[in-house]
Amino acid sequence: MVRSDLHCLAKREGGNTTPMPVITCIEDLRRLYKRRVPKMFYDYAESGSWSESTFRANVRDFEALRLHQRVAVNMDNRSIAGEMVGQPVAMPVALAPVGLTGMQWADGEILAARAAEQFGVPFILSTMSICSIEDVASHTSKPFWFQLYVMRDRDFIGRLIDRARAAECSALVLTLDLQILGQRHKDLKNGLSTPPRPTLRNLLDLATKPSWCIGMLGTSRRQFGNIVGHASGVENLTSLSQWSAQQLDPTLDWDDVAWIKDRWGGKLILKGILSAEDARLAVRSGADAIVVSNHGGRQLDGAPSSIAALPEIIAAVGADIEVWLDGGIRSGQDVFKALALGARGTLIGRAFVYGLGAMGEAGVSKCLELIANELDLTMAFCGLRNLDSISAEAIWPPDRL
Ligand SMILES: Cc1cc2nc3c(=O)[nH]c(=O)nc-3n(C[C@H](O)[C@H](O)[C@H](O)COP(=O)(O)O)c2cc1C
Repeated sequence: MVRSDLHCLAKREGGNTTPMPVITCIEDLRRLYKRRVPKMFYDYAESGSWSESTFRANVRDFEALRLHQRVAVNMDNRSIAGEMVGQPVAMPVALAPVGLTGMQWADGEILAARAAEQFGVPFILSTMSICSIEDVASHTSKPFWFQLYVMRDRDFIGRLIDRARAAECSALVLTLDLQILGQRHKDLKNGLSTPPRPTLRNLLDLATKPSWCIGMLGTSRRQFGNIVGHASGVENLTSLSQWSAQQLDPTLDWDDVAWIKDRWGGKLILKGILSAEDARLAVRSGADAIVVSNHGGRQLDGAPSSIAALPEIIAAVGADIEVWLDGGIRSGQDVFKALALGARGTLIGRAFVYGLGAMGEAGVSKCLELIANELDLTMAFCGLRNLDSISAEAIWPPDRL
C-alpha cells in the first residue's frame, strides 16, 4: 500500500478507489522502493562504506552546482542523443553494473536490460549478477555490456570473458576499484545473504513485502548466475561467500589490464578512476573510455565525490580518451552538470535500482524517462540544443571552476 507521503492520486477503478502514485522524480521511486523491497536489500543499495561520507558527498556536490540560465534563444529541435564508445545512445546515460540486482526484484537484470534496450541506452551486467550472461542474452535482442571483477582464479576470469564474447556483449567494463571489499556496516549488521536467511527478523520483514515474495517464489534465479556452477568448487551459497571473499584479487595491476584487454579484444572501459595519475595510466593502457567513479561511495570512504574529482581528470586526459562519470546522479540535471564539466557519458546505479524495486521493468523505464526529460528541459533553460553545445559555461558562475 502506498502511503500519503508519496504524492498520491486517487484513481477510480470499478467503483474502488485505488491509490496510484504519481511519480515525478527519482526520489518518488526511492520511497516506493523502500516500501516494497526487504530492508536487507534496500540497505545494501542505499549505503556507503564506513561513515558513508563519500556516499553523501556524491549527491551533495551535485546539488551545490548552480546553472547558468539563458533566455530568448531558439530552443526548438533539441536532441539529447549521443554516442558512447562509438555506439549510438538515446542519451549519454548507461545503467551501471549493480550486483544482486535480481534480489531487488525477481529477474531484475533481465527486466532492467529490457528497459534499457527499449529506451536505447546501454545496460551493464555485473559479474555479481543473479541472472547469468547467457540468461540476459536470451531475453534481450540487442547487445548489452558486461562488467568484470578480477578474481584470483584466472581460468575462471578467462572463461567469463569468453562467455561475454559468445553472448555478443559489445563492451567490457573492467572495474578497478574493488580489489578488496569496502566495509559496509549495514550489510554486516543485516547479515546480507542471497536468498535471505529465514531468521525471525527477516521473516517479519518479508511479511510486509508480499509483491517481492511472490516474485521471488515465481523465479528460479536466486543465486549468483555467472558464478555458481561455473567456478570450480562453487556449488552452493555458503561456499560462494567464502569463494568471493577469498577470490577478489588484491594483486590486480596494469599488466593484468593488458592481459584482459588482449583476451577480450573489443571495446574496453576502465571503471573506478579517481585521480589524474591513474587516468593517464588508463590512457596508456589503450582503453576506450574511463569512468570517474568511487563505486557509489562504497569503497574508500573519505575519497572525493565523483563530480569533485572530474575537472582534474578532464584537464589531464579529456582530450585523449572518453571520460565518463558515475556517483550521485539522481536527475537529468546531474547528468547535465557532469557533461558541462567535461564528461562525455554517465552511468546511473541507485537511480535505476529505485525504479526496479518500486515497479519492476516499468520502474526502470520510468527512471529513464524522468532523467531524459530533466536533461532535455535543463538544456533548454540553459539555451542549448544538443550535447555538443554543453560546456562549463553552463555552470554558474563559470569562474568558480
Ligand atoms: C547496490 C550496488 C551494487 C553495486 N555493484 C557493483 C558491481 O557489481 N560492479 C561494479 O563495477 N560496480 C558496482 N556498483 C557501483 C555502481 O556500478 C556505480 O559505480 C555506482 O552505483 C554509482 O553511484 P550511484 O549509485 O550513486 O549512481 C554497485 C553499486 C550499488 C549501489
